[in-house]
Amino acid sequence: MKEHLKHVKNYQPGKPLEELQREYGIRHAIKLASNENALGPSPKAVAAGRRALKGVHRYPDGGCFYLRRKLARFLKVAPKTLVFGNGSDEILVMATRAFAGPDDEVLIADPTFLIYEIAATVERARVIKVPMRSFRYDLEAMRRRLSGRTKVVFIANPDNPVGTYIPEKELVAFLKAVPAGAIVVLDEAYYEFAKDSAGYPDSLKLLKNYKNLIVTRTFSKAYGLSGLRVGYGVADPSVIAALNKVREPFNVNLVAQAAALAALDDKAHLRRTLRAVADGRKFLSRELKRLGFEVVDTVTNFMLVRVKRDAKDVYEKLLRKGVIVRSMAAWGLGDFIRVTIGKPAENRKFIKALTEVVSRQKSVDRSREK
Ligand SMILES: Cc1ncc(COP(=O)(O)O)c(C=O)c1O
Repeated sequence: MKEHLKHVKNYQPGKPLEELQREYGIRHAIKLASNENALGPSPKAVAAGRRALKGVHRYPDGGCFYLRRKLARFLKVAPKTLVFGNGSDEILVMATRAFAGPDDEVLIADPTFLIYEIAATVERARVIKVPMRSFRYDLEAMRRRLSGRTKVVFIANPDNPVGTYIPEKELVAFLKAVPAGAIVVLDEAYYEFAKDSAGYPDSLKLLKNYKNLIVTRTFSKAYGLSGLRVGYGVADPSVIAALNKVREPFNVNLVAQAAALAALDDKAHLRRTLRAVADGRKFLSRELKRLGFEVVDTVTNFMLVRVKRDAKDVYEKLLRKGVIVRSMAAWGLGDFIRVTIGKPAENRKFIKALTEVVSRQKSVDRSREK
């Protein structure tokens, strides 16, 4: 292995649901750990994917011709400003590979999506982490860390795991300060959930003035196609050309392309998804506060919750009750969990399980005090 790869942190995926159920002897577990669409994929996307399966003896279209054409119309951008990835993850990796090398600097927030640091370390770039302030990007501080060495800046808007967003005014002030030689990746994986929030940036419009900007979005979240892996980036054609240099030729599979095309058409499914998330967010936020927890104000389909006790322990205990969330210990947030907003029954099950975990803990504490 190359020496520097020893410093690369491995992304820790959760165990498969079936495996956890077997290991813990539980049934009907619910997974609220990976910010997926609780309602499932659009039935139209599933039908299109199934039809496409008949053609999988052929390679996929490496240029994503039909998806490109449709998405370009949908977003009102030129087809040549689009690039597709095996999930938007792959575009983040391609951006790092194309623009950052040994000893270059990659600027990120802390906490943020773990892939940014992993991708930068693989390229032997130096990762500069700027702590958030009250779970919001500290763009003033990030600005001070910009230098001639900065090659890539990652901004997740909204951010994972915190769920908050940067309004357009603040974002533009920051973009103005970024040297032209540095690329800004604006990761909008949760765009559909956040877009109607007050002051949320119209990022595609910003592309006209900022040629060093890449906006990434995905079919994994609101469109419910995480398992198929398809995401996209929008940028100036010169930037797209650089990304294409490092792109695998057949990186988006044939079933994913067909399903994504159909998912774009299923506006009713998207509406249902957004409504379920908005309702679930209200319910969870109210219930979690009632239980005495701090909840970070989110515009996404997940929530960062300060459980005020060891997050790994809470995670374990919830797991035994058949509820899978994410402990935030790996992000350095030892008393926080992140929970994905589920279907109403799932949200209720989570609250019930958490209430039991907490009240048990309280009675243990009380008996210790005696
Ligand atoms: C902030 C952020 N960006 C990007 C992604 C990657 O999503 P995908 O590769 O499925 O498009 C995620 C997934 O969790 C995310 O939270």
